[in-house]
Amino acid sequence: MRYIAVLMLCMLVLLPTACSQVTTQQVLATSHIAAPPTSGLKRTAQPDPFHDQRLQMVEKTIAGRGVKSEIVLQAMREVPRHEFTPPDYLDQAYADHPLPIGYGQTISQPYIVAWMTEMLALESGDKVLEIGTGSGYQAAVLAALGGVEVYSIEIVPELAASAAGRLESLGYQVNVKQGDGYYGWQEEAPFDAIIVTAAPDHLPAQLVTQLAPGGRLVIPIGPPGSYQSLWKFELDQDGKLKAYNMGGVAFVPFTGQGIEQATAVPTP
Ligand SMILES: C[S@@+](CC[C@H](N)C(=O)[O-])C[C@H]1O[C@@H](n2cnc3c(N)ncnc32)[C@H](O)[C@@H]1O
Repeated sequence: MRYIAVLMLCMLVLLPTACSQVTTQQVLATSHIAAPPTSGLKRTAQPDPFHDQRLQMVEKTIAGRGVKSEIVLQAMREVPRHEFTPPDYLDQAYADHPLPIGYGQTISQPYIVAWMTEMLALESGDKVLEIGTGSGYQAAVLAALGGVEVYSIEIVPELAASAAGRLESLGYQVNVKQGDGYYGWQEEAPFDAIIVTAAPDHLPAQLVTQLAPGGRLVIPIGPPGSYQSLWKFELDQDGKLKAYNMGGVAFVPFTGQGIEQATAVPTP
């Protein structure tokens, strides 16, 4: 039943074949630092010069724009975005917009990070997969929710390595792997939630097959270099996938062999 629903969705949402090839991927880091009760952050005694700016950002541009989940707001208050921001942009670390992180990629806008995290509706004991580690900021926010097992895949080797190192040194428990997230992370599936932070032009079917019953998948879908729609998919206990269009967003394009081959060879 679940697979019929997925197949129907694939046909409806222009889905190319769910390719079976798996790219060579490497697990870069898994830090296992015990999380404190309210967060995955390893605390240091050093004062945080951005503390007030961060609280202001959360109240004004995140809670103020409608994010209600207290655990998400608390994670956003705790995660030091300036640690994920390149030195040249430190003065904008708490401005509500994306910033360049090199390799043509960005650290996402804080409001979008919080909004998408809220949509995942994570609970203690859940397992979540992020596609598009980038700087590691979104992964840190997921880890800071506490009690959630976090996996993240990044396609750009240099970003994967730097994010893994940064997350580990800040004390976030995140499993980071370099590879093409089009295929998900089969060995660790199923996931209670999957978040995709780059925009493919269709829903990668293998991500759907790696969702647990009751799972949530949040993903921007649309043409590269343009605006996309943010979709929330929910897989019910009977394997039926429900789709909700949450509104317009602008993400960097989803890259890699998986998406390129899928668009070149459409499903019969
Ligand atoms: C908007 S950035 C991510 C921001 C990131 N979540 C953060 O908090 O900094 C999108 C990321 O997705 C990555 N990406 C694009 N296509 C990918 C793919 N097929 N598999 C894994 N990562 C991919 C990009 O290299 C980029 O780092």
